[in-house]
Amino acid sequence: MGSHLPVINNRTSIPVSGQMAKLLTHPERALNALVNPQRTAPITVEIDLVNGICNSRCPNCTYPQGDGTRGTFFKWDRFSSLTGELKAAGVEGIVLKGGGEPTLYPRFEEAIRYLKNAGFDVGLITNGLRFNHEMAESVLPFLTWVRFSVDAGSEGMYEKTHGLGEERFLKLQGNINAACEIKKRDTLATMVGASYLVLESNLEDIDAAIEWGNSIGLSYIQFKPMQLRCPSAPGGYSYDYLTCATISQHLIQYQDKEYANGFRVFLTRIASPSQIERSSTCYGQRVSLSIGADGEIFVCCHKKYDPRWSVGSIYGSSFEEIIFSERRKKLLHLNPRQADCLHGCRYDSFNTTLERSFAGQTPQETELRLRAMAADYEGQSVLCPNHI
Ligand SMILES: C[S@@+](CC[C@H](N)C(=O)[O-])C[C@H]1O[C@@H](n2cnc3c(N)ncnc32)[C@H](O)[C@@H]1O
Ligand code: SF4
Ligand code: SF4
Repeated sequence: MGSHLPVINNRTSIPVSGQMAKLLTHPERALNALVNPQRTAPITVEIDLVNGICNSRCPNCTYPQGDGTRGTFFKWDRFSSLTGELKAAGVEGIVLKGGGEPTLYPRFEEAIRYLKNAGFDVGLITNGLRFNHEMAESVLPFLTWVRFSVDAGSEGMYEKTHGLGEERFLKLQGNINAACEIKKRDTLATMVGASYLVLESNLEDIDAAIEWGNSIGLSYIQFKPMQLRCPSAPGGYSYDYLTCATISQHLIQYQDKEYANGFRVFLTRIASPSQIERSSTCYGQRVSLSIGADGEIFVCCHKKYDPRWSVGSIYGSSFEEIIFSERRKKLLHLNPRQADCLHGCRYDSFNTTLERSFAGQTPQETELRLRAMAADYEGQSVLCPNHI
């Protein structure tokens, strides 16, 4: 997941990517993150409830799932005490995602209620196979958003992208449909979206997926090019750039389309490395950090489970000690050009936009510019959900 080149819409004079939206809806936090990052907690923390445990078999999963028997579960005792530490530090949103499939965590529903009751906005990324009617009734009211990884518009395509057959695809569609029905019935504010990773072989299903998403009342469907393993590329992954260009072209017709029920189509654009201007600073880790199921805190989801990019372990220190540590201070100086960062990582466009806008400015100039950008952005959040 992530935002790369900014999503540009007609209604704003500035390009607003999902990550940028997150920053602009928290201007005070944003200012601290820009002028005093060592003393600023991230706005969002992503948590893997499990790692290496999944009920799907996506051939290109960025977190190899093995046979699903040797994974890690986040220790519940530490999860509950961590919640208080995150709140005290000022974290506002928690996203539960993978390492694996979060709904397989034994206390999954309890975890969501626990986070919501502690005062967080809670987001969930799931493959949706266990998110049946019963689970939706139990957790949907506590979620700010849920995003289902669908990646297909037909049974045959699901087999290619998730390694699972027709029965599972129909079950997934039924589950998502149930979530949309519950949302409608109870007039819940929960944003229910879907994502579709695109590679050359599933381009043909794009229109069917959009039609289906619109027909059942999804809030949006987001298309993202799939990262493909490539040991020689920075970060060990690359993209099929020809496909990236083809999707961009195909999706132009949907980009600004207004659907009667508010449904939207988003595209995360990826440019080839030669077209990507890279920043010399990663601003992304100032607004978001990722915690693995093993309790290590990493600078971002792309660097998860790589000890070189661990900020610290929640089993040795409190969250606050870790984020205000010398180690974090050092990692805040990470230069994406030199740190083996994936081209087109989720924060690339965010990083370049911030560097272009704020590098070398005084705190006063930064504040003025940030306030102007936030005022310009106001009211745009519906057009661009801030978690994409
Ligand atoms: C690793 S999954 C974990 C959560 C859950 N199991 C799911 O699939 O939604 C988190 C996100 O990573 C995305 N993802 C997995 N493999 C990817 C790849 N090769 N390229 C880009 N995104 C990928 C999934 O689509 C999903 O949105
Ligand atoms: S469902 Fe998610 S975690 Fe499981 S294999 Fe697919 S992408 Fe990976
Ligand atoms: S620039 Fe590097 S550290 Fe920052 S989000 Fe991208 S991959 Fe992660």
